[in-house]
This record gives sequence, structure tokens and C-alpha cells, in this order.
Amino acid sequence: IPRTVLVVGSLNTDMTTRTRRLPNPGETIVAQAFSTAPGGKGANQAVACCRLTRASSGAPPDGISVKMVGAVGDDEFGGRLKDSLGQNGIDVEGVIVKEGFSSGVAVIIVDEDTAENRILYTAGANEALTAQDFPENFFSSFNPLPSVLVLQLETPLQTVLHLLTLASNAGIETVLNPAPARHIPLQFYSKIDHLILNESEATYLTGEDVTYLDDDAGIQSTINRLLERGVKRSVIITMGARGCYFKSSDGQESWIRPEVRPQDVVDTTGAGDTFVGAFAVACAEGNGIGYSLNFATKAASISIRKTGAQAGIPWRGEVQ
Ligand code: RIB
Ligand code: NA
Repeated sequence: IPRTVLVVGSLNTDMTTRTRRLPNPGETIVAQAFSTAPGGKGANQAVACCRLTRASSGAPPDGISVKMVGAVGDDEFGGRLKDSLGQNGIDVEGVIVKEGFSSGVAVIIVDEDTAENRILYTAGANEALTAQDFPENFFSSFNPLPSVLVLQLETPLQTVLHLLTLASNAGIETVLNPAPARHIPLQFYSKIDHLILNESEATYLTGEDVTYLDDDAGIQSTINRLLERGVKRSVIITMGARGCYFKSSDGQESWIRPEVRPQDVVDTTGAGDTFVGAFAVACAEGNGIGYSLNFATKAASISIRKTGAQAGIPWRGEVQ
């Protein structure tokens, strides 16, 4: 039986400008380049799942199908966002059009020198994806049940918490990427199998500053704090070029460092999403956490070679 990874989350149009520096208030500066492309953390993660189950473009999926549920507006962007996901081979039946809403937009500024990004996100229709869109029997329409449910926080927190409850009641493995950061009520941590967050999100959730930390001890105390809140299997903190640190509830922990040549780094937008999607696919295939994280690290380190959140997401053959 084919397995399914279900991604519930955002679809955005990304408007990316590359610049050498940020303008000061009242100042106009000339940017290096501009481009528009489909994005959104949910959609990017779904695309990552899909590419990483196919050897190359056009190859058949390797036993796993990917389904996306989310919301777009009834504007000109909405249809395009949905279609582009469909063209990637993702089941988009569950992408709802919300009347009277505009589709999500992300204004992204990429630093030409460091390839780092700054993102201004306007939710639009993503904010209209409510718990009512997921009735109590939501998962009974799936046969078989999804193996893994992937969630982020560009959709309303209440919707995400509701889905965590439905999924954990149904015995579905859950991956939460709490981005952008918001506080998660304590009683929901035990409904999360894998919590994947970056340094700034970890800092937000724990109040301990782990940004730019590079020693095990500092990261360990933060990760322990999150695990103690009840996360079922693993907490993974991603740290850009420094890789990720993970600890699992069965006591494994380690730092996984990617191989990245500085000259290859073009745009890091979407690297975190590639990581999450790759990890989810590897888990759905039944791999252990160590293997899945190495796979995710490698996929993310390839994704940064192209401009745009989705353009650089590799196919499976490029990772192995
Ligand atoms: O994680 C990257 C994504 O976050 C972008 O595609 C953008 O849409 C933002 O919301
Ligand atoms: Na990229």
C-alpha cells in the first residue's frame, strides 16, 4: 500500500528582492534583482516531500504520495499557487479557495553578500484555514491513514493544535515546525512526535538565547527544556550552515554538520522547509532519526544553491 505524507499549511506568493544592504528610513536604493515564485512554508515542505520521493524530474514517486491541505484566496494568485503544487505531483484536492480573501504573500529580502533572508509574511487566506475545515472525522476519509502529518505556524495556531489532537488520537506521526515562532500551550507538546525549529524559534520558545551558539552544552540545555515539555520522539534545532543538533526521547543526541562550500550559497530561503520535508519523507519510509536527519541535512545543503524557496529543492537522486 502506498504511504502518504500529509502537509497542512500555507501557500504564498514569494516576492524576492536581492540587495547589498537594506535601505534606511526615507532612502531609496537600487536592488540587484527581483523575482516572483510560489512559496509558503507549507507548500515548500510539500514540494520537498514530493521531490525527495522521486529520483529525478518526471520519475515516478517511490512508494509515497504527498497531499497538501491549505487555503488560497479567490484572487489571481490563488489558482496559480494551487496549480503549481499540482504540477509538482502533489495531491491538491484539499487546497480550499477562501472567498473574499487574498492569497498569502511573502516579501523577501535576500542579502546579496551573505545570502541570508528577511521575510515579511502577510497571511491572507492562510489565516482563514480554521479548525472548522477539519471535522472530528477528518482522518476517516483517508484510506490508508497518512503516515506522517507535517505542520508549521503560518496557519492559525488553533487550527494546528486541533490537527495535532486529531492526528495523535488517530496514531499518526506528527512533525511540527513552529515557524514563525509562537508559544505552544504546554499540553500540546505531548502530541508532537518531532519538533523541528531553528535557533531563533528555539530562543523564542524557551527564553534561552541559542542564536550563534556553537557549543554542545548551551544547545543541550535548551533541547532538554523542550523535550521535558513532553515531545514524543525528538527535538531538532537547525542552525543554518552549522547544521542541526538533535536529541531523541530514547537518549540519542548529536550534532550533524553539513558540507557547504561558501561559494555555493545563493539563497537560503526554503532551506529549513527542505529539511523538514526531507525528514518527514525519510520518517514515512520507516528510517531511524539519525538516517533521516543526515538525509534532511544533505537535502537542505543542496537547496541553497538556487534563488527561490522551491527552485533549489533537490530530487532524491541528487541527495543520495
Ligand atoms: O520558509 C520560507 C517561506 O517562508 C517562504 O517561501 C515564504 O513564503 C515564507 O513565508
Ligand atoms: Na533556495
